[in-house]
Amino acid sequence: MTEQDFLTVTDSRTGQDYKIPISDGTIRSTDLRKIRVSEKDHGLTSYDPGLFNTAVARSQITYLDGEAGVLEYRGYPIEQLAASASYLEVAYLLIYGHLPSEPELASWSEDISMHTFVHENIKNFMQGFRYDAHPMGMLLASVGALSTFYSDANSWDDPESIQLHVRRLIAKMPTLAAFAHRHNLGQPYVYPDNELSYTANFLSMLFKMSERHYTPDPRIERALEVLFILHADHEQNCSTTAVRVVGSSHADPYSCVAAGIAALYGPLHGGANEAVLKMLVKIGDISNVPDFIDGVKNGKQRLMGFGHRIYKSYDPRARLIKQAADDVFEVKGTSPLLRIALELEKRALEDEYFVSRKLYPNVDFYSGLIYQALGLPQEMFPVLFAMARTSGWVAQWLEMIRDPEQKIARPLQVYTGDRGLEYKPLSSR
Ligand code: SDX
Repeated sequence: MTEQDFLTVTDSRTGQDYKIPISDGTIRSTDLRKIRVSEKDHGLTSYDPGLFNTAVARSQITYLDGEAGVLEYRGYPIEQLAASASYLEVAYLLIYGHLPSEPELASWSEDISMHTFVHENIKNFMQGFRYDAHPMGMLLASVGALSTFYSDANSWDDPESIQLHVRRLIAKMPTLAAFAHRHNLGQPYVYPDNELSYTANFLSMLFKMSERHYTPDPRIERALEVLFILHADHEQNCSTTAVRVVGSSHADPYSCVAAGIAALYGPLHGGANEAVLKMLVKIGDISNVPDFIDGVKNGKQRLMGFGHRIYKSYDPRARLIKQAADDVFEVKGTSPLLRIALELEKRALEDEYFVSRKLYPNVDFYSGLIYQALGLPQEMFPVLFAMARTSGWVAQWLEMIRDPEQKIARPLQVYTGDRGLEYKPLSSR
């Protein structure tokens, strides 16, 4: 920024000119407050429902270019990480800011495997849910409950304690996610097998039955690892914003991640992968695709898994997920719903309604088809998203608590309600 980068605005109410500094392509909203019509005036406020055009943080974690369809974690293109890294390697990169050396990765993996178990009371707590409780609700509750098991959960001034919470969250999410799935099936919970990789252990806790050791198909293990990498972080999305806002009040990291899970639960966000499967099942046959597309264009329904606040071109993750899907379908066979999804994509990408609104497949359009091919129920799809996103949430939380500019989040409002009414007794209302 050169010192002459500024915005000159004239307030037509007073004829007054103002120079507002520009840095990094932004102006500080608080600079607007000097624009006032009288000394008593609070000054101008920016109004941005849905935060369409408001930067709330300076971050070095994830870079997105929505027009170009670029996604980088700590400067590394997502395509390279999906091709060569492991999920724990990417989690380390997001959290510590560099790719781990061999000893760093070995120590990190060992640390994580030491924290995969949960207190037996958490297991008992989960057994209190109805058999058909949504696993995302079980995950949300059990992650929040974790904060009550560590007296130092809220230790802001103890870096070692914070590192312990970071490892616990990354390590225990697969255990809690798998416990929720087994609860829904009425099957015994499978305990972690620390001889296995992060992803293989998760598959074991999901699917192991009476065999002594569960051995996943390596193609399935790698495809799931790629999906976790692609879902690990995505800068200031809705759920990460929830984590940062809750964290800004100095709540403990377990409660912050629970807030992220709650936001991700929504069908417009992480719940979209479940909504896509429901949509494909409802369409039922490729012959019904044209009518469904017409219904979308008439505003009757949304094409779930399409559109994005940032990506106005193909979501780079959707392209990579489509490749991972081929590997899974090679092992598990192609889903009959895949043909419907491919026809939906083909028609939407040729249709003016979608093209004019720059609506393309996003990360959720194909991921559900993979999870279904693995034998997981739709309700588990957002749970896998939350599991993978935990490394991003934790990285963003750490960056927020270390940022001297960050203060408790407390936005303003435009009040449009009544003022100065007289209280009326009940008898006269
Ligand atoms: C994720 O932020 C992130 O990074 C999120 C995420 C991550 O990794 O964290 O990438 C994960 O949440 C991906 C998005 C998953 N959600 C869905 O697939 C649900 C379906 N998509 C949408 O509802 C929508 O596209 C959003 C929520 C994703 C984005 O919504 P915006 O940016 O608020 O856009 P909008 O709702 O204002 O839509 C703009 C226009 C509207 O039409 P008009 O009113 O201008 O006529 O596009 C239309 C919308 O009606 N539109 C769609 C549509 N998405 C937008 N029309 C049909 N189908 C859709 N999916």
